[in-house]
Amino acid sequence: MCGIVGIVGTGAVSERMVDALKRLEYRGYDSAGIAVIENGSIVRRRAQGKLDNLREVLASSPVDGTTGIAHTRWATHGVPNEANAHPHIADNVAVVHNGIIENFAELRAELAHEPDGFESDTDTEVVAKLLAKYRREGMAPRDAVLAMLKKVTGAFALVILFQDRPETLYVARFGPPLAVGFGHGEMYVGSDAIALAPFADGIAYLEDGDMAIVDRDGVEFCDFDGNALSRPRQPLQLASMMIDKGNHRHFMEKEIFDQPEVVSHTFGHYCDFAHGRIAVNGDEIDFSRVSRLAIAACGTAYLSGLIGKYWIERFARLPVEIDVASEFRYREMPLSPDELALFISQSGETADTLASLRYCKQNGLKTGALVNVTGSTIAREADAVFPILAGPEISVASTKAFTCQLALMASLALRAGRERGTLPVEEEKTLVHQLSEVPRLMNHVLHTVQPQIEKLARDLSRFNHVLYLGRGTSYPLALEGALKLKEITYIHAEGYAAGELKHGPIALIDENMPVIVIAPYDRFFEKTVSNMQEVAARDGRIIFITDERGAAASKLETMQTIVLPDMPEFIAPMIFALPIQLLAYHTAVFMGTDADQPRNLAKAVTVE
Ligand code: F6R
Repeated sequence: MCGIVGIVGTGAVSERMVDALKRLEYRGYDSAGIAVIENGSIVRRRAQGKLDNLREVLASSPVDGTTGIAHTRWATHGVPNEANAHPHIADNVAVVHNGIIENFAELRAELAHEPDGFESDTDTEVVAKLLAKYRREGMAPRDAVLAMLKKVTGAFALVILFQDRPETLYVARFGPPLAVGFGHGEMYVGSDAIALAPFADGIAYLEDGDMAIVDRDGVEFCDFDGNALSRPRQPLQLASMMIDKGNHRHFMEKEIFDQPEVVSHTFGHYCDFAHGRIAVNGDEIDFSRVSRLAIAACGTAYLSGLIGKYWIERFARLPVEIDVASEFRYREMPLSPDELALFISQSGETADTLASLRYCKQNGLKTGALVNVTGSTIAREADAVFPILAGPEISVASTKAFTCQLALMASLALRAGRERGTLPVEEEKTLVHQLSEVPRLMNHVLHTVQPQIEKLARDLSRFNHVLYLGRGTSYPLALEGALKLKEITYIHAEGYAAGELKHGPIALIDENMPVIVIAPYDRFFEKTVSNMQEVAARDGRIIFITDERGAAASKLETMQTIVLPDMPEFIAPMIFALPIQLLAYHTAVFMGTDADQPRNLAKAVTVE
């Protein structure tokens, strides 16, 4: 993970680099640092913890330079202290790195006798040491970088600054993303387009195995053997990248409240509401020719795929195999070319999801990417791209990307049903009409349940363990509710299929274990109520999230019942996602944890 920025500028760069790091802080916030060329020498400032600590260091000890590199870290090798913060320096070279140098222990042993020893526990420092060694042996900067790239293995995005090349950055990519930005008489590098949006008016992405030399006149690309390459320059849309919290306390709250609007963008793209049909874009995927669908994703994206599986199997009668990508990539699932593989990823950079995509391509499958970041690696490598159109998601805990993934999955399920002849025209019309109701219902729920959820959050914060239960598409939602709660409040939470309760977890039930039951009034409602009865009989405290018909039908005593409006079963997961997001958010606010940047996590997981 980690975020990287570099500027070859005409004016002072330190403040602009810190601003750009702020936009990358979602990638990691264990430490931050910058290095610039000041009066012909590399000078560096670093600080443990979030970027504000680096800002304080810079306020008391400013740096002045027009070329620089900067980094915000998510620790992999070495604890998150200042000594392990990037940039790492050896002799006259400074390096920032995102990724993992897998053979670092071997290289460290090889370089053990280099001058000054190692000052950090990181894998990155070997890169700086190798470059310094090659320069001492007389290599020019470009040759030293190419020689270093031949020595290191693993995944890396690197930006390198040599003291004797004060207006040039050397960059390389193998794995984690890296982009070059074009400005007026200035050039930039960054981990993503968002970092560069306020400065650059064009952008070019490095591909895996690319090196680039960036100076004020532009950029030259080559491969790791030094052969020249060209990479297309694309326009960068500033407006769509502008990000602020508005009147909200956290990005997470803003992103929860963005959902009616962004989900309607997703539907606007994939549904033809006027004719009650799913709009098919020219993506060359024909579900009628597909024998089986494989889906791989991680975390919340995986859970949206799990809900998608219920819809696709139901409406398109297409068998779906779904795995978390870290298992998919290694489990040697038999695959055949008449299958389709879909990969879901907000960032489009998740290492395991990308590896699963590459595995499917090697096996001759057609691949589709459901991504939020359309310039991402997963989007660029897939045969077909389905943008989820959630807009930039900054909060580490995913909210609006989840519901936009669901909106897209629902649309694809109906499209697959039509193409496979399993969904009659009239039923498609009814279901598309139901989708058109989602933004309105979301809006209604967001503006009615908030006070009740705030009160519930206060009660929930007293407990150390929480169980979520659901059936059908509410089962993946139970998993998502538990994931959201644990990642931002650190309360231990688990999600279970309601029917599994009596196969083990019921042993946990007592007055100290609140059980959150997600139960719209659907085909499974009565069965879920029976499971609730089993909880009530054992003094369990029930928090019941249901709709009006569900509330009227259940006579059980609960700790609290959250009542949503009635809605068709198909669209319920998109609406029921909101109270579980709000509950996690308000519990985090009440407990004083950092909802946007929970401990130990990062937004884009570009390491395995
Ligand atoms: C949880 C969360 C993570 C991500 C996961 C996949 O709130 O955000 O579980 O869903 O790391 O990330 P992407 O979607 O970028 O592949």
